[in-house]
Amino acid sequence: MLQNQNRRWIGSCAVALATLAGCGGGNPMITSPTTLRAAAQRHGLVVGTAADSGHFSEAQFTSVLSTEYSDLTPENQMKFGPIHPRPDTDPNPYDFAGPDALVAFGVAHKMKVRGHTLVWHSQLSTWVTGGGFDATQLSTILRSHIATVVGRYAGKIFAWDVVNEAFNDDGSIRSTIWYDSPGIGFSGMGTRTIEQSLNWAHLADPKAKLFYNDYGAETQNSKSDAIYAMASDFKGRGVPLGGVGFQFHVDLGFNNTGTLDSVKANFARFAALGLDIHVTELDIRLSDFSAGSLAAQADLYSKLIALCRTQPAVKLVQTWGFTDKYSWIPYFFSGMGWALPFDADYGKKPAYTAMFNALTAP
Ligand code: G3I
Repeated sequence: MLQNQNRRWIGSCAVALATLAGCGGGNPMITSPTTLRAAAQRHGLVVGTAADSGHFSEAQFTSVLSTEYSDLTPENQMKFGPIHPRPDTDPNPYDFAGPDALVAFGVAHKMKVRGHTLVWHSQLSTWVTGGGFDATQLSTILRSHIATVVGRYAGKIFAWDVVNEAFNDDGSIRSTIWYDSPGIGFSGMGTRTIEQSLNWAHLADPKAKLFYNDYGAETQNSKSDAIYAMASDFKGRGVPLGGVGFQFHVDLGFNNTGTLDSVKANFARFAALGLDIHVTELDIRLSDFSAGSLAAQADLYSKLIALCRTQPAVKLVQTWGFTDKYSWIPYFFSGMGWALPFDADYGKKPAYTAMFNALTAP
C-alpha cells in the first residue's frame, strides 16, 4: 500500500512539473488532467492502445492516438507473417516499413511502444507453415527472427510480448508449429520452448521487459494456474520473464463481484512473484449500442481501471484499438461490436468518460 502511495505521489509530481506547477506546495496553477494519458500518469500508470500505421494518414486517428495515449502497440504489423513474409534465403525477407512508422510515431509523441508478438501460432507466414521444416531448421528460423526483430527495435520498444497464447484453457501446452508440430526441439518438454524464446529475446535486447501474454487467464482458473506455475519456476531459475500480459477481451458477463475478486486475487499472486502486470488487449464487446448497454460497458471499464489502480504491479493498461471504426470484434464475433472507448466517428463514448473518471478519482 505504501509503495502504491509513493508511486501515486511521484506520478503527481511528474504531472505537476510537466505543467510548470510546484509539487506539494499547494500551487493554484496545478492543472487538472484533460486526457487519459495525463490522468493515468498521476498514478504512474501508462495507458495505451493497439494501432497499425496504415491508419496514420487519417488526421483524427493520429490526433486521438497521440493526445490520449502514452503507449502504443502494433495490432498486426509485428506479427511473424506481416513482418517476415519471405524466407531468409530471399534478399529482402522482412517488411519493416509499417512497424518502423509505428515506432517512429511513438518516439515522436513521447509514447512507449510495446512489441507484439514474436512467438505465436497464428498469423504466420506460409513459407514457415508450408515449408516442411524440421525442428533444427525451425529453431534456426525462430532464433534468427527474434534476434532480427528485437535487435532492430532495441532501445525503442520497452516491452515485448515474446510468447503469445501458448497454453490451452485447461492449462496444457497448445500444440503448435513452435512447440511440437514439429517444434524447435523441445516437443513434449513443457515450457522449455517459452524459456528458450525468452532467452533469445533477452540476448537481443537485455533492457527490454519480456512478457508472456494470453487471453482467458484474467481470473484464477486452469490456464492462469499453469501460467503462474511457469512464472514461478522461471523467476526461481532466473529465466528473463519480466511480466505477464492479461488480454481482457471480455463481455458484460465479466461484470460481477466473483469474477472481479478473482482477477484481483490472480493479479496479487503474480505481483508477489515480482512480475509486472500489463493489461494488454482490453475491450468490452456489446451486442447492441443502446444507452443501457453503453452504460453497462462504461461501468465495467470503470471497475477494471479502479481494480488496476489497487495493484501497484499493474504498470500499463492498453485497449485493443481505441475507435470502434477499426475494432477486430465485428469480424470475429458475429453481431457484436462497440467494444472500445471511442465510437466510429471518434466521439467519446460513456466508456471513455468512465475510464477518465476512474483515472482521476482520488
Ligand atoms: O491485411 C489483410 C488484407 O490485405 C486482406 O484484404 C484482409 C481480408 O480478410 O485481411 C487482412 O488481414 C487481416 C488482419 O487482421 C489485418 O486487418 C486478417 O485477415 C485478420 O485475420 C487479422 O485479424 C487479426 C487477428 O489478431 C488475427 O488472429 C486482428 O486484426 C487482430 O486484432 C487480432 O489480434 C489478436 C492479438 O494479436 C492476440 N490476442 C487476440 C487478438 C484478437 O484476436
